[in-house]
Amino acid sequence: MKLLVTGGAGFIGSNFIRYVLERYPEVKIINLDKLTYAGRLENLDTVKDNPNYGFVKGDICDLKAVESLAKRADAIVNFAAETHVDRSIMDPQAFVRTDVLGTQVLLECVRKFGIKKYVQVSTDEVYGSIEQGSFKEESPLNPTSPYSASKAAGDFLCLAYYKTYGLPIVITRGANTFGPNQYPEKLMPLFITNLLEGKKVPVYGDGKQIRNWIYVLDHCRGILSALTKGEPGQVYNIGGNAEKTNLEITQMILEILGKDETMIEYVKDRPAHDFRYSLDSFKLSLLGWQPIFSFKEALKNTISWYSHNDWWWKPVKSGQFLEYYKKQYGSSEPS
Ligand code: NAD
Ligand code: TYD
Repeated sequence: MKLLVTGGAGFIGSNFIRYVLERYPEVKIINLDKLTYAGRLENLDTVKDNPNYGFVKGDICDLKAVESLAKRADAIVNFAAETHVDRSIMDPQAFVRTDVLGTQVLLECVRKFGIKKYVQVSTDEVYGSIEQGSFKEESPLNPTSPYSASKAAGDFLCLAYYKTYGLPIVITRGANTFGPNQYPEKLMPLFITNLLEGKKVPVYGDGKQIRNWIYVLDHCRGILSALTKGEPGQVYNIGGNAEKTNLEITQMILEILGKDETMIEYVKDRPAHDFRYSLDSFKLSLLGWQPIFSFKEALKNTISWYSHNDWWWKPVKSGQFLEYYKKQYGSSEPS
């Protein structure tokens, strides 16, 4: 199978590419990535010389660039997106451009070249917040941030292209994902790396918000199940086996790193902060998928990875990121 992966230099995409190339020698992957602040070619060092892997720098909004690669592909998995809620609050436009327009460009190529399967990697955030119970795939979408609204628009475009043109699209909606190679702006890598640097961790509001957490390789396995077994026109939730408040996560990280609660700094809450995400993944389990990594072990492995790879995260935790953070949260900053 010839696979076009878009956004494969980021967190989940790079883990997915490594996972697939290590296990499926019959799969050839071309990775198209714009290399934004979140795209890191170092994430693919271990596969860069693999004859089944190739990299092209480019933008999914650029029709010509996508066409030149899509015409040789059997299937496409789209990870490319702007992904951080706080950045979307600061600058929504980049999100609409990549997450909506970029998706539409990819769908046009699926249409033009008769691609056999297209997987849109989406997020549980499109459902919005749920106080009790869990979202199913048919739950209404109720996004609250420019990020989740842009992802929801991308999902609707995919479903419209399925209904209108009968394209073989599948959507996955994954939970909050953690693991190696995640840019240190999201909760887990930010808190782990702050503590490794001896800095405090900024908990938004009272820290009682709840997230459903999934280890990155379980998320990748779920995407692979949707790619190989998912029914066209269907949506599949990919939820993890841990539902925790932000404070619980913070306390677990503090404990593993041998730190105490004096390292917590409560800062101004995020605007329109979703209280709880929760997914029902029964539908994907019918395709034979279940999360297999224990949350605690995966968290320990993740912390160990950041501890042993400061060459990876130290350079990005510098000027630009702190400037952005200060602008949003005033004097409280992650340093
Ligand atoms: P990331 O921010 O780490 O990586 C995004 C990648 O997309 C980067 O390599 C970046 O360079 C690339 N990119 C951005 N704009 C592009 C463009 N216009 N053209 C080509 N490439 C572009 O993101 P991630 O956390 O790996 O998320 C990947 C996908 O999974 C996203 O679609 C996201 O919505 C979804 N998702 C993420 C999570 C999570 O917790 N991280 C959870 C559920 C779903
Ligand atoms: P994040 O990792 O940004 O993922 P998402 O917003 O997509 O769920 O945030 C996870 C949770 O952690 C969310 O409730 C916001 C909270 N959070 C903090 O309390 N402090 C932080 O510095 C960050 C980045 C997030």
